[in-house]
Amino acid sequence: MKHQKAHHDLLEEFRKAVVTGLSAPRKEVSCKFLYDERGSALFERICELEEYYPTRTEMGLLQHYSRDIARRMGPGCRLVEFGSGSTRKVRILLEALERPACYLPVDISREHLLAQARLLAFDYPDLAVLPICADFTQSFALPRLESGAGATLGFFPGSTIGNFTPAQARDFLSRTARLLGPKGAMLVGVDLRKAPEILHAAYDDREGVTAEFNLNLLARINRELDGDFDLAAFRHRARWNDEDSRVEMHLESRHGQTARACGHDFSFAAGETIHTENSYKYSVEGFRRLAREAGFATEKTYVDDAGLFSLHLLRPV
Ligand code: AVJ
Repeated sequence: MKHQKAHHDLLEEFRKAVVTGLSAPRKEVSCKFLYDERGSALFERICELEEYYPTRTEMGLLQHYSRDIARRMGPGCRLVEFGSGSTRKVRILLEALERPACYLPVDISREHLLAQARLLAFDYPDLAVLPICADFTQSFALPRLESGAGATLGFFPGSTIGNFTPAQARDFLSRTARLLGPKGAMLVGVDLRKAPEILHAAYDDREGVTAEFNLNLLARINRELDGDFDLAAFRHRARWNDEDSRVEMHLESRHGQTARACGHDFSFAAGETIHTENSYKYSVEGFRRLAREAGFATEKTYVDDAGLFSLHLLRPV
């Protein structure tokens, strides 16, 4: 019953976002709607692509530095993961941490969250796994600390923070600073600025998986909102916006056309786009500055040899 209501709410939220976003002078739909079941599966395939360096680079950093991170956190810590897609990354941390007390994955997609939590609990019988179904872009509470419990470590991998604008990222971080408490720390994966050619290849791969991922938004509108978008009439675009330091994904209309969805007509000029995602890239210094403005000091930054990706261990000040 509860689940059905949640599903209905999400559908209504999607409908509103599409009607509002496609009626705006600059058409846009939030990137969070890219992740339905098919979108999440396509994203998993993106993570395996040769051109998409973030996943394997971050995994390498975790493998290399998890013992150092564990030593800094001490025994018995609580691990809170924000937006736990797959549990591949957190497992590396759990292997290194000394007797972690509990793992609290926070995610909006209930079914996925519970399924992943169950698998993990099975593999770590001594670990208390407490999934929290919440939208981490809004404020939410953590269960109360038992006395004598270790520190809380927040984990926000994948450069998901790059989907926020810098102002939203700052708000998110200052909210988590309060959530973690004075003994806590935050481990954030942040993708770095680099040559536009590398970024372009990562967001417009040769196999066309990212194109399929982006176009799936139109397929989802057709499926869930009774749309009649012709997917062949749009093309995937990835653009590096240097001024705002972000990769933008767009769906570009190949010619003038009108499409219908949720009982509305939306017209497109040739070359007009729907902006579907921002992926902000930071310099190490730039991200430290932003974290500082949110009430965090950087204890340690881990960067791979090629300078592609960074992990920041932050402490509330
Ligand atoms: C999971 C949001 C961090 O921005 O790199 C991958 C999503 N979009 N390819 C990113 C994504 C296109 C990814 N994040």
